[in-house]
Amino acid sequence: MGVVLRVPLKFEKFGAVSFYDVSEVVGLNGLSLRERGGVFSLNGHGLEEYASKTAIVIPVKDEDLNVFEGVIRAVPLASPLIVVSASSTSPIDVYEREVELTKLLNNLTGRRVVVVHQRDKAWVEALAGTSLEDLVDSGGVRLGKGEGMILGVLVAAWLKAKYVGFIDSDNYIPGAVSEYAMSYYTGLAMANSKYSMVRIIWHYKGKLPTEDVIFRKRGRVSVNTNAVLNYALSSYRKIETEIVKSANSGEHAMSLELALKMPWAGRFAVETFELAALLESCYIGLELGFRECNFLPEGVKILQVETRNPHIHAEKGDTHLAQMAAESLGTIYYSALANEDVKVLIRRILIENYFYEDEPPTPLVYRLDNVNPQSVISKYLAESKLALDAG
Ligand code: GDD
Repeated sequence: MGVVLRVPLKFEKFGAVSFYDVSEVVGLNGLSLRERGGVFSLNGHGLEEYASKTAIVIPVKDEDLNVFEGVIRAVPLASPLIVVSASSTSPIDVYEREVELTKLLNNLTGRRVVVVHQRDKAWVEALAGTSLEDLVDSGGVRLGKGEGMILGVLVAAWLKAKYVGFIDSDNYIPGAVSEYAMSYYTGLAMANSKYSMVRIIWHYKGKLPTEDVIFRKRGRVSVNTNAVLNYALSSYRKIETEIVKSANSGEHAMSLELALKMPWAGRFAVETFELAALLESCYIGLELGFRECNFLPEGVKILQVETRNPHIHAEKGDTHLAQMAAESLGTIYYSALANEDVKVLIRRILIENYFYEDEPPTPLVYRLDNVNPQSVISKYLAESKLALDAG
């Protein structure tokens, strides 16, 4: 059975973007839930319907193979599984092992799986002449988590999924992965909207390996990105808000109609950019009289779900955190959300918390709206000697 979510108590509207306050997982298993107001859960039939319509994308770059295996095994079988890998192929062929583990899962269960490699030269031809030409160099698609997620969206659209969800491959707790997927299905059903998104907030977060595991309420980057985004919105609207609690959520899901129409950013700018770009075009842009919001008249619904399993993932060091913070905050810094005060705050946070002295990098922006996923992915799979498509 699926999770039981508390219906959010309030939401705030910024132009055509509705941000819902936190919706906690109040039950990990809704079996025999008695109908009450205030919570939402899917029955077995509803769960299967949403799971089969939701493709789950796992980005992976040289993670521990045991951990990767735990993650792919935790994704509910009804959802098509898409692995987008940027892992090494030499001197040790890590990618080949990822393909083997995924193929084994397919052999054992018959589940639908697609595995693609980001640095596959077959992408060069497949994306030539499309608006995603900038995504490639002569060796395939450029490295970057955002770049990998874009490929995941294209494969999900090719599979004719209605929703796409992302789950990192360095998660040590398979039960958490399963809870994210269940929260996506349930949250997307609760949102019941053409342009919807569900972003996960962890109850507690920790990193391994480390000498002393600390269970933090928020990650060391998200705590600052959330604060900056809330400060920018408060300054613009002149009413204070703390509604944004998921600015960096790597774990999130959305409708394909939203995913294909919104702009995407590369590398670790990707998650924050989703919010910054939507608020720029569908809030500030609309207020200023521009007609660049692609999501009218319905608007975009953003749900924030607090899951219960702790989020335990690999420790990647301070330089990695600094780069992630700079790329992420750069999306706000260069947007219409940032006045001079916001820019000063971002520079100060980068220096004081991450010893990052430069201006943040400008996000690399990609557009998918004129790309035909059916033609791109068919061409790619026909050419590729690395991809796996089974089930
Ligand atoms: N395909 C692909 N290509 N995957 C990648 C790449 C890439 O270039 N770079 C990283 N990944 C995969 C990693 O293997 C991992 O599964 C996931 O993307 C996240 O990368 P990490 O390097 O582990 O990031 P993190 O754990 O520090 O940060 C995560 O959480 C943040 C929020 O706290 C990421 O999901 C961030 O995007 C997120 O903001």
